Amino acid sequence: MDNLRFDGRVVIVTGAGAGLGRAYALLFAERGASVVVNDLGGSRSGDGSSSKAADTVVSEIRAKGGKAVPDYHSVIEGEKLVQTALDNFGRVDVVVNNAGILRDKSFARISESDWNLVHDVHLKGAFKVTQAAWPHFRKQNYGRVIVTSSNSGLYGNFGQANYSAAKLGLVGLCNTISIEGRKNNINCNVIVPTAASRLTEDILPPDFFAELKPELIAPVVVWLCHESCEENGSIIESAAGWATKCYLVRGKGALLRHRITDSVSPENVRDVWRELTDMSQATRLNSIEEASSTLLNVLDEIKSGLPQVENESNSVFSFTNRDSIMYAIGVGANVKEESDLQYLYESHDSFSALPSYAILPSLMATMSSILISSAIPGKEFDYSQVLHGEQYLELHKPMPVEGKLTSKISVSDVVDKGKNAVIVVDGKTYDENDDLIATTQICIFVVSAGGFGGKRSSDVVISPLDEPKRSPDSTVVEKTSVNQAAVYRLSGDLNPLHIDPSFASVAGYQSPILHGLATLGMSVRHILKQYADNDPKKFKSLKVRFSKPVFPGQTLQTSMWREGNRIHFVTTVQETNSRVLSGAYMELHEVNLPAKPHVVLCADAVEELPSDAVFQGMQERIDSNPSLVKTINGVFLYHITKNGKVVKSWTADLKTGKIYKGEPEKGVKADTTLTIDDTDMIDLALGKLNPQMAFMKGKLKIKGNLMLAQKLKALNTDAKL
Ligand code: NAI
Repeated sequence: MDNLRFDGRVVIVTGAGAGLGRAYALLFAERGASVVVNDLGGSRSGDGSSSKAADTVVSEIRAKGGKAVPDYHSVIEGEKLVQTALDNFGRVDVVVNNAGILRDKSFARISESDWNLVHDVHLKGAFKVTQAAWPHFRKQNYGRVIVTSSNSGLYGNFGQANYSAAKLGLVGLCNTISIEGRKNNINCNVIVPTAASRLTEDILPPDFFAELKPELIAPVVVWLCHESCEENGSIIESAAGWATKCYLVRGKGALLRHRITDSVSPENVRDVWRELTDMSQATRLNSIEEASSTLLNVLDEIKSGLPQVENESNSVFSFTNRDSIMYAIGVGANVKEESDLQYLYESHDSFSALPSYAILPSLMATMSSILISSAIPGKEFDYSQVLHGEQYLELHKPMPVEGKLTSKISVSDVVDKGKNAVIVVDGKTYDENDDLIATTQICIFVVSAGGFGGKRSSDVVISPLDEPKRSPDSTVVEKTSVNQAAVYRLSGDLNPLHIDPSFASVAGYQSPILHGLATLGMSVRHILKQYADNDPKKFKSLKVRFSKPVFPGQTLQTSMWREGNRIHFVTTVQETNSRVLSGAYMELHEVNLPAKPHVVLCADAVEELPSDAVFQGMQERIDSNPSLVKTINGVFLYHITKNGKVVKSWTADLKTGKIYKGEPEKGVKADTTLTIDDTDMIDLALGKLNPQMAFMKGKLKIKGNLMLAQKLKALNTDAKL
């Protein structure tokens, strides 16, 4: 291997009397260079002067047989340093601008003289010495320049505003002179060192300090100054026997307007801030020309007003396995359910994300996209008018548990519903290999934004489907937690409607409501449990309409009907018997039939009673034999007791055929009220307890229409139990 030599080359190292400069000077001399050892010999803060520092290093070099001369000028007198080189060695090939001082003070306390002196030594000094050497470099068509910056300049450091400003100024100086010098083979680079010296002895911890030898950085500087090194205009950081290159990057950015005639408002900026500040697709620009030409592209994009540009936007969704676990908890996954552990534990053999998590990347893209706010011609609206109307999801590959997904969304239709409007947003989500993960469609319902003369329906919307007209094949009941929305929102939908009581009340709700997607996620878990053997890979697609809000703490019931590989489902709130998800279905790649058709998840969270099954049985019998309703034709309110206390009520409306938890719905009156203990209710259903006897013994209390109660017999016997 050839040694890198500097024979015949003349090198000026400023501030070479100590620290880093000394190490540079010694190594250059060792490699054959003639070195001008410049040092003013002042204090750390730049006061005073002495020839001792430079002389000592010169003696060291000479003692080892090297060539060196001292120079005691301040770098501010740059031409004098260059003159020393010319007088002693007849030429100059390399300038290492290294001299430095510190005048650390908090910004408020920096005096003008502190500011000026720090700038003079670092920035002006580098300018003066380099400029004095410049004509010689050009004439000989060769030159190497180093300027010394600092992490304090690149990133800032408390108490060093003057120093940081000067140090970043040196990067700017290098950026330009590296361009101007290029045609004359003059290269300039920035070194960002971290080394033990008098400048850092009270800043760095002692152990660390001992390992940061200037000698470990000198080889980097010496290489950068060698004639065979072509690096130019770079920032090289080095310390402790390690080095790297640094540069500024620019994000992909976001358009603030879409037509050349549009103006830009602060709200436009706010609305795309997330996209505008997203650095996940940041790139380096190599020149000012490149920076300007990308601006020209932006302008062309705005001028052309191309539909696909107006209509499409990209957004990156970065997530870790913590995020997928957080999502799973947000949709009710809990450690008490063995089948949920795979969504909650990153070391689980089948650790996986819930398929419905794949809705989030394109939803986030939609929420942050300017496309939505400008989608309805001539209508401005804000997010308080916006509701999630419908959702479609198809998975092409399983949703990963972590990574970076890119969603491309486009507005594929805008429907004028008269008073309201619907924006249809299609999305495609890709992984880092550009493989398609998910296809989505979101129907956004915009309250009071209709009446713009648009079309009344859409051909592109994927339709919801009604469930079959028979009683459900399977049900899963699960109580949501009072914190369900508080947890779910951490997955990204931070709309205050789901957490802030005053915001919810302005929006017309008695309290914050649960996210529709949280309800959906729960039903997805229920369906996978019942029909997919808990295997998220069996999920193919789903469609759902969000019809009513759920309040955290309410109990959800997912009723399911299997039709081939399609599972229709309806999700209701048990407490109010209202449908919250409707027209819904999930397609599976493969169906596994449930071991138990009716399941209650997380039983300890729900006031679940054995007698609940009796009422479920009643519903099933009515559904399969609707004539029972006509025969009985009355409304019954059951109070179920435990230890003499009423713990649950059920309404059996046998005028309409509906059995539900709680008191009769508004407008419905109970004809007969029955009060009975939970276990007696079971015995009654099993035929173990005779109703007359129970009544006589006071086990069954009946109020209201006693005759009507007699007719219940047909309904109460449950062969299944
Ligand atoms: P140092 O204090 O050991 O060396 C600096 C030398 O510059 C001193 O010998 C001093 O007398 C000389 N000097 C000061 N003003 C001068 C002037 N007007 N004209 C000529 N010589 C003058 O400090 P160190 O640590 O070796 O610093 C070298 C360079 O590296 C400085 O520019 C410093 O800002 C920079 N730097 C150092 C870091 C470190 O961790 N040591 C970190 C980042 C940057």
